[in-house]
Amino acid sequence: MTSSAVASVKARRVWDSRGRPTVEVEVTLASGASGRAIAPAGASTGSGEAIDLRDGGPRFGGLDVTHAVAHVAREIAPALEGRDAAAQAVVDAALVALDGTANKARLGGNAIVATSMAVLHAAAAHAGLPLWRHLAGDRPVRIPVPEIQIFGGGAHAARRVDIQDFMVICPTAGSFAEALDRTAEVYRCAGMLLKERGLLQGVADEGGFWPAFDSNEEALDMLVRAIERAGFTPGDEVSISLDVAASEFGRGGLYRLARDGRELDTGGMIDLLGGWLSRYPIVSIEDPLAEDDAEGFRAFTTAHGARAQVIGDDFLVTSASRVADAAARRDCTAVLVKPNQAGTVTETLAALSAGKAAGFGTIVSARSGETEDVTIVHLAVGWDAGQFKVGSITRGERTAKWNEMLRIEETLGARARYAGPDALAYAR
Ligand code: PGA
Ligand code: ZN
Repeated sequence: MTSSAVASVKARRVWDSRGRPTVEVEVTLASGASGRAIAPAGASTGSGEAIDLRDGGPRFGGLDVTHAVAHVAREIAPALEGRDAAAQAVVDAALVALDGTANKARLGGNAIVATSMAVLHAAAAHAGLPLWRHLAGDRPVRIPVPEIQIFGGGAHAARRVDIQDFMVICPTAGSFAEALDRTAEVYRCAGMLLKERGLLQGVADEGGFWPAFDSNEEALDMLVRAIERAGFTPGDEVSISLDVAASEFGRGGLYRLARDGRELDTGGMIDLLGGWLSRYPIVSIEDPLAEDDAEGFRAFTTAHGARAQVIGDDFLVTSASRVADAAARRDCTAVLVKPNQAGTVTETLAALSAGKAAGFGTIVSARSGETEDVTIVHLAVGWDAGQFKVGSITRGERTAKWNEMLRIEETLGARARYAGPDALAYAR
């Protein structure tokens, strides 16, 4: 047995940022090196995602994970013990084969992704390297451009506004740290503006303000005002990024915007968003159409893709084959990758690599249900994704990621290169 062989795999139930149970896995190698990771959980999930195994029944609203935890002990541990943790692709293929389903529904995507990431951490620990460096090897890396939520809506705020994420993005900052500085000022000013208008209602699932707005446009207006109040030029020092998460309110080419009291077809939706793109400094837009509307994506990208990056999240669900298909059809210009959408580290990297091969922008992303786990920070740097999405600048499960990125930027010192404007991909 090599010293990087898996000696034990243990799972436990822990809690996520919504107070829901989730799966943590701890992997120890023959050398004594160990790694640990926790599965996150989405709320606005794409239908093609790996499935989290939940117990059902009355406990915790049916969301308990005792079966997923038990699967790690009963099936996953015996299948991995003795395998080389340094061979991530082989380990992940074994997990996929052991599960045997197309969407990891049998053992649970939550059990599998936590195991896959824990193996990766153990291999990095065995190599004596920070995870990002273990992944990057000798290749140069960039510190990614963060997109950070100021207002939360959609499925993360009881549909208080239709659009899910109103974010700011600072590609022109001199560093990641400076992008956070600018964002913190905008967040603070957004809070002051809401308070002055009696609209402050607390925070949504990812830490952005829970807005009592009457329309989606009101949120955009308020965001521009917050950027200005913070002393920045909108579209120059601070720009806007949206996650429409349109699958949450659109199906079969029909979009129901409850906040604006409108029902739009695909063309109407494209015109609405196109209008926003011309009136507001929006440089990136995620899932502008629903996951079942590839034609709409294509039409949107053709019409507006030169002005704003068009990201597929629910549309591409971190699937390499979907990314390759979308690239061939020019449906969008960027891919968001989330390890638990794919279910393993190897499949997540495959989706990101397919995006890079197509000239797409690539964004490593957290979920709305998160923990203190910082694996994705290291993936974003080690895989040189160029962009990074974690939610807002508040709440510990979010700041755990931003603060870890600050540490990495500091470690790199003069060698740290902020990805900057080139990280975003536009249609040509
Ligand atoms: P989710 O939201 O984690 O609830 O899916 C994040 C996103 O849509 O990007
Ligand atoms: Zn999304």
